[in-house]
Amino acid sequence: MNSATHIAIIMDGNGRWAELQGKKRVKGHEAGAKVVKNITTFCSNHPDIERLTLYAFSTENWKRPRLEVEFLMKLLNSYLKNELPVYLKNNVRFEPIGDVRAFSKQLQKTIKIVQEDTAHCDGLVQSLALNYGSQDEILRAMNKLKNTEGEITQEMFSNTLDCKYNVDLLIRTGGDHRLSNYLLWQAAYAELFFTDTLWPDFTPQDLEKIIKKFTKVERRFGGLK
Ligand code: IPE
Ligand code: IPE
Ligand code: MG
Repeated sequence: MNSATHIAIIMDGNGRWAELQGKKRVKGHEAGAKVVKNITTFCSNHPDIERLTLYAFSTENWKRPRLEVEFLMKLLNSYLKNELPVYLKNNVRFEPIGDVRAFSKQLQKTIKIVQEDTAHCDGLVQSLALNYGSQDEILRAMNKLKNTEGEITQEMFSNTLDCKYNVDLLIRTGGDHRLSNYLLWQAAYAELFFTDTLWPDFTPQDLEKIIKKFTKVERRFGGLK
């Protein structure tokens, strides 16, 4: 049976969830943040899951209306501040990925505080992908390695990425079947699961069902069974 050691989720559908109820898109983001909390707690109590990597803001999401982007930044700041005691209680280590240098100094400070204060936690690692784009991550890694002498190995390259771990199970909510620039290198052999459920409606029970299916998939990694 497979073990869902590293789960990555493209948390999509917040805006549509809100619009379906006649609410503003940002209400969907608020509801989505609560789901991040529930799913993280569920994963922190799951015996197999070591890493949960959640797509929160992409390098392309800056294209959205200014007010929505500003709301997302404020929401992220308050989410992290409120969650710090919860991370500590659940022994969760917070490790952001993505290029957070584009964020305000205040938000960068909050991110750093939560990262440092949870650095000793040795339970689940929750990574939020913040101003993350896989192509940007790969380019930044290449630039870091450009003066390396000799050949760059696969291991060296992986270790230079923000996210150094292969993904076992990649889930996208919200009905679309695309990766939207998420973990392109790390998902090389991930099992992909797509659900129509919009992120604010996604529950730990939904995740449990997907994990159950995943455990039974025959993963061959190019070999034969
Ligand atoms: C995902 O939900 C959250 C972010 C990208 C920040 P969306 O905001 O993309 O919701 P839809 O896809 O428009 O419904
Ligand atoms: C992907 O969702 C990014 C996040 C979930 C943060 P998008 O809604 O931005 O992706 P597209 O635009 O549908 O590909
Ligand atoms: Mg979307």
